[in-house]
Amino acid sequence: MRRFKDRVVVITGAGSGIGRATARAFADAGAIVHVVDIDGGRVAEVVAELGVGGHETYGHVVDCRDPDAVEGLAAKTYERHARCDVLVNNAGVGYSAAVHEMRLADWKWVLDVNLYGVIHGIQSFVPRMIDQGGDAHIVNTASILGLMGLPTMSAYCASKHAVVGLSDALSAELAPYRIDVTAICPGIIATDIVSAARTGESMSAAKANMMGVYRRLSIAPERVARDILRAVRARQPVATTFGSSYPLLLLRKVAPRIFHSVTSFAHMRLASRGAP
Ligand SMILES: NC(=O)c1ccc[n+]([C@@H]2O[C@H](COP(=O)([O-])OP(=O)(O)OC[C@H]3O[C@@H](n4cnc5c(N)ncnc54)[C@H](O)[C@@H]3O)[C@@H](O)[C@H]2O)c1
Repeated sequence: MRRFKDRVVVITGAGSGIGRATARAFADAGAIVHVVDIDGGRVAEVVAELGVGGHETYGHVVDCRDPDAVEGLAAKTYERHARCDVLVNNAGVGYSAAVHEMRLADWKWVLDVNLYGVIHGIQSFVPRMIDQGGDAHIVNTASILGLMGLPTMSAYCASKHAVVGLSDALSAELAPYRIDVTAICPGIIATDIVSAARTGESMSAAKANMMGVYRRLSIAPERVARDILRAVRARQPVATTFGSSYPLLLLRKVAPRIFHSVTSFAHMRLASRGAP
């Protein structure tokens, strides 16, 4: 898809961070943007913000964990436009805890938003995209943590590795229907994700340190938005916005044991400096 003028774009988690920047970028490129988020206040804010530029924008308060709500979103989108050109399954949450302190409910919460949110988007939109004759694109927001793992991030990493895997499978499967799929893998991005993240007790004191590291190393969400638009134009199956996190991924590839020693050491320092 080379141009976005009058294309219908649906973005989940568009109330903040990467989703919000992506909504702005698509709107600026002339797209009709559907802003979707669980937080109604944020939806109203983004719709108002984009409306100032005269962009055709719609807001939806949807919890992507709820399959019926996502089905309702798809139904409304198709009632209005009879098509969806780009679906960005972006809503996500952060979670950090030692694995031995996690309850099953914690795993479920992370996987429900980060993985099932994506699955619900696919379930409701793909059959309709096939019926419209394709010429559509699905972007799933994964992470650099869909390509490597870090201590205390097991649930988050599991969710993002799954998103990378399912996107790769769908890239091949949906190609005959003229539906492209991209897994976008951002590195450390300056958004609310860390401040909003839930943590296990062992990590709650380290959260301030994590936020400090994030602030120092992070890059703007607009960079990810730009890379998402570029990936859709170029029909890329995987796109990355690694910034300063790239050396860590490289180390994971070339020397996994050293990578694990480095990340284990860094984690212990971060956690102990956070202790009261
Ligand atoms: N910020 C980073 O460093 C980073 C890095 C890699 C990947 N990501 C991924 O990018 C995506 C966007 O995160 P962000 O960094 O912009 O965070 P953010 O917290 O700024 O934005 C996430 C948005 O998702 C919404 N949301 C949360 N749960 C939802 C639900 N159940 N249904 C609908 N909306 C929901 C939130 O209300 C929020 O507006 C996530 O999938 C995240 O995992 C972020």
